[in-house]
Amino acid sequence: MSQNARKILVTSALPYANGPIHIGHLVEYIQTDIWVRFQKMCGNQCIYVCADDAHGTPIMLRARQQGIEPEQLIDSVSTEHRADFAEFNVAFDNYHSTHSEENRFFANTIYRRNREKGHISLRTITQAYDPVEKMFLPDRFIKGQCPKCGAQDQYGDNCEVCGASYSPSELINPVSAISGVTPEQRESEHHFFRLGDFESMLKQWTRGGHLQNEVSNKLDEWFAAGLQEWDISRDAPYFGFEIPDHPGKYFYVWMDAPIGYMASFKNLCDRSDDLAFDDFWKPASDAELYHFIGKDIIYFHALFWPAMLHGADYRTPTAIFSHGFLTVNGLKMSKSRGTFITARSYLDHLNPEYLRYYFAAKLGSGVDDLDLNLDDFIARVNADLVGKVVNIASRCAGFIHKQFGSRLADEIAEPALFAHFSAAGGAIAELYEKREFSRAVREIMTLADQANQYIDDKKPWVMAKQAGRETELHAVCSMGLNLFRQLIGYLRPILPATAALSEAFLRVEPLTWKALAIPLTGHEIAKFKPLLTRVERAQVDAMVEDSKENLEASRTAAPSGPLVDDPISGNVEFPDFAKVDLRVVRIVAAEQVEGADKLLQLTLDLGGETRNVFAGIKSAYAPESLPGRLTVMVANLAPRKMRFGLSEGMVLAAGPGGKDIFLLSPDSGAEPGMRVK
Ligand code: 2FM
Ligand code: ZN
Repeated sequence: MSQNARKILVTSALPYANGPIHIGHLVEYIQTDIWVRFQKMCGNQCIYVCADDAHGTPIMLRARQQGIEPEQLIDSVSTEHRADFAEFNVAFDNYHSTHSEENRFFANTIYRRNREKGHISLRTITQAYDPVEKMFLPDRFIKGQCPKCGAQDQYGDNCEVCGASYSPSELINPVSAISGVTPEQRESEHHFFRLGDFESMLKQWTRGGHLQNEVSNKLDEWFAAGLQEWDISRDAPYFGFEIPDHPGKYFYVWMDAPIGYMASFKNLCDRSDDLAFDDFWKPASDAELYHFIGKDIIYFHALFWPAMLHGADYRTPTAIFSHGFLTVNGLKMSKSRGTFITARSYLDHLNPEYLRYYFAAKLGSGVDDLDLNLDDFIARVNADLVGKVVNIASRCAGFIHKQFGSRLADEIAEPALFAHFSAAGGAIAELYEKREFSRAVREIMTLADQANQYIDDKKPWVMAKQAGRETELHAVCSMGLNLFRQLIGYLRPILPATAALSEAFLRVEPLTWKALAIPLTGHEIAKFKPLLTRVERAQVDAMVEDSKENLEASRTAAPSGPLVDDPISGNVEFPDFAKVDLRVVRIVAAEQVEGADKLLQLTLDLGGETRNVFAGIKSAYAPESLPGRLTVMVANLAPRKMRFGLSEGMVLAAGPGGKDIFLLSPDSGAEPGMRVK
């Protein structure tokens, strides 16, 4: 580390510990990782930390739904997340969890210090309560009719049909998305962070060069609307940290989530000799602190977070870098279209370097959304990486091996061209620093064109066939490989795996920005192996198909659909599923239905109540074998008028059909009327 090396701590947003990493998430991790790798290449001390965001109601309910403890859920998700990141070469210096002792310590400290300064107040509020589940309901867990447009089945905070925002108490006919019952209104005492106390500090901070301009402008709107107190507590049951002086009250997940940045860094400091936590977090720290986030969580990071830190005598961030959302082929990611692509399905089919390159080629420093157009993806990766960059090495390496004992020439053939490439390093570095990756890529590809032009002009393949031109051939191919080395060095933050293979091929130490200005002469290189292969359309198609298949698999195999409505998923959402009333019933009578090939008319006993249901099980059961048998029915299906009469529900059975249709085993122990969970 040089004397004037910068000390930099960098974070990406912490992914929730209840779902897989998908390519939408990867925009941010790849963006951050590129920036961090660039800083490291420049010799700065740059530490990149992250963690799983492990608390909150959705995680608690997801675990419950899977019949496991939340700790088990977050452990297994953490293992998956870590593997996905590692295979995408997202190189965290530490990956931790918000459900950790370090995080509990900092959450308590930040809370206590703010409370001692009077920045926390207690107030009783009225909230929706599910009397069956015995819990208060977050807005997202209440559904009902939109008070503005009347659309059915809308969430407690906004309507997806007309876009209106409202409070859950305004919903018409609200129901708990967990149990389906009508919520009660109950009182509870909550802790509020008095954001308004920080108004002048925040106004200064948000205009102090810590935010992108478009973000500062957005903040002005929020200031104009007034800074509201922020509810930082939740009632039991809740998966999180209990508030020290208030048993039964927990810190809201968003309160301890950003604190996870500190916790992960502390966890790293405790294991390393040369990192001191306070150096980075004390109020007048000379270290830089950057948070990469999506534009949807600006409010938390640009208002609550600096205020909480300031109130607790910690330093505030140097800058918050927000980015836009990912679309695929111009549309929101969609499970039915196969464009909701998880990190894992991508990795099953494609090299992560491609996606890193494609995102870099499209990322700027603003908050614009970014589109992954799959045709463009194939064309661009093949044209730029395979066609331009890697091609230079493959065009030159063979001659060096065959004719010159794998040794590069002692001198650089075209010092001016080499100097031109070196000089470009300054501008490229500046673009990386400013997160203008697409512009950096453009500069690098212009250089790649020039390198190819040089080889085209010199025609080493002609020289190789002409006697007496060996020295020239050696010079040209050595020059070509030197240009390749500079290009791959400039691309190294984006393409770490290809750069590592190239370093092995060139037999050089990991490339640094400085080293790129010094030519490689009189040096023996290793045998050339292909560094990167073309993307084939079949691979992309298979990935898209697989993403559709995954959805099918999760429909049939996984009992746990997503708990919160996911607008980009094609699944039956849990709240919808939760509405289905499944009951054990006894078949009291079964009769043939005149004119129906497949149906039997069943009389079902629900434990007191009887229902008439037409069921397509005739191929497997003679009517006389059925009375007394148990099965499961959907008890709240709207009655359907059929040709043969009214059907008041639906019988569920397993099996592919024909003779193989299975009802509940007679000795299952189930009783009519029992709810099926
Ligand atoms: O929006 C999210 O996915 C959150 N889990 C991000 C948290 S970032 C930080 F504050 F922890
Ligand atoms: Zn509406």
